[in-house]
Amino acid sequence: MKDLFGAALLDYQNGHYTEDIITSTSISDNDILPLPYLFRDYKDMPKLEQKALNLAKGTILDVGCGAGSHSLYLQKKNLNVKAIDISQGAIDVCKLRGVKNTQLKHILDETETFDTLLLLMNGTGIFEALSQVSKYLNHLKSLLKPNGQILIDSSDIKYMYEDDDGGFWIDTNANYYGELDYFLSYKGENEVPIKWLYLDFNTLKLACETVGLQCELVLEGDHFEYLARLS
Ligand SMILES: C[S@@+](CC[C@H](N)C(=O)[O-])C[C@H]1O[C@@H](n2cnc3c(N)ncnc32)[C@H](O)[C@@H]1O
Repeated sequence: MKDLFGAALLDYQNGHYTEDIITSTSISDNDILPLPYLFRDYKDMPKLEQKALNLAKGTILDVGCGAGSHSLYLQKKNLNVKAIDISQGAIDVCKLRGVKNTQLKHILDETETFDTLLLLMNGTGIFEALSQVSKYLNHLKSLLKPNGQILIDSSDIKYMYEDDDGGFWIDTNANYYGELDYFLSYKGENEVPIKWLYLDFNTLKLACETVGLQCELVLEGDHFEYLARLS
C-alpha cells in the first residue's frame, strides 16, 4: 500500500489542502471523497454515526479510525478510547489532532479487550470478502469484555445494480453483490486496489448467528445504510 489515503489526511491536517481523494469501484464510476469530511465534527456526522457515539461506553476501540474524528469526540467526553488503523498517515494525523492512545495496527493483530468496538463509515469494509466475515467476527468477539458490544455500520448496495426500468442486473453466478474492488487516487497517483465489503443487514445477522453473536438493527438511514449492534 502506498498510503495515499494517509498522505491526503496529512496534507489536510498540515494546511496543504488543494484537492480531494477520488474513489471508484468495480461497479461505479469516479466519485469525490472530500477531505474535510474525514475531519468532521459530531454535528456534521450522519445520524447513524451520532447514534453509535451515543451508545459507546466503557473502554472503546475505534477500528479503522482514519483521521480520528470519532475518537476525538469520545475522548472529549472523557471516555477511554484507543484508535487503530493500518495507515501510518492516519495515525500521524490522529496524534497531531490530540488522540492520546493510537497505534498503527491491523485489527487482526489487536489483542486487548474492550467494552465497545466501533467500526464506522462502512465498518464491514475491512472484512474484504464474504468468505472472511466469520474470521473477522470471531476475532472481534474475542476482543470483547463481558457484556461488550460491537457497533458497526454498512449498506445494502443492491440498489447500485438497479436498471432504469427497476430491474436488477446482479449476476447470480458471481460472488456476493456487496464484494467490490475499490480504487483510490490522490493528486494523480493510483493506490493499490483493495477489496471492500458492503454487507446487507440480513447477511450480517446470519453470519453473526454462526459465530454466536446477537445482531440487532439499531437504526436505518435514508439510503439503505444501517447501524447494527452485536453482542
Ligand atoms: C472508510 S475509512 C473510515 C475512517 C474513519 N472511521 C471515519 O469514519 O472517518 C476506513 C479506514 O479503515 C482503515 N482500515 C482498513 N483496513 C483495516 C484493518 N484491517 N485494520 C485497521 N484499519 C483498517 C483504513 O486505513 C481507513 O483509515
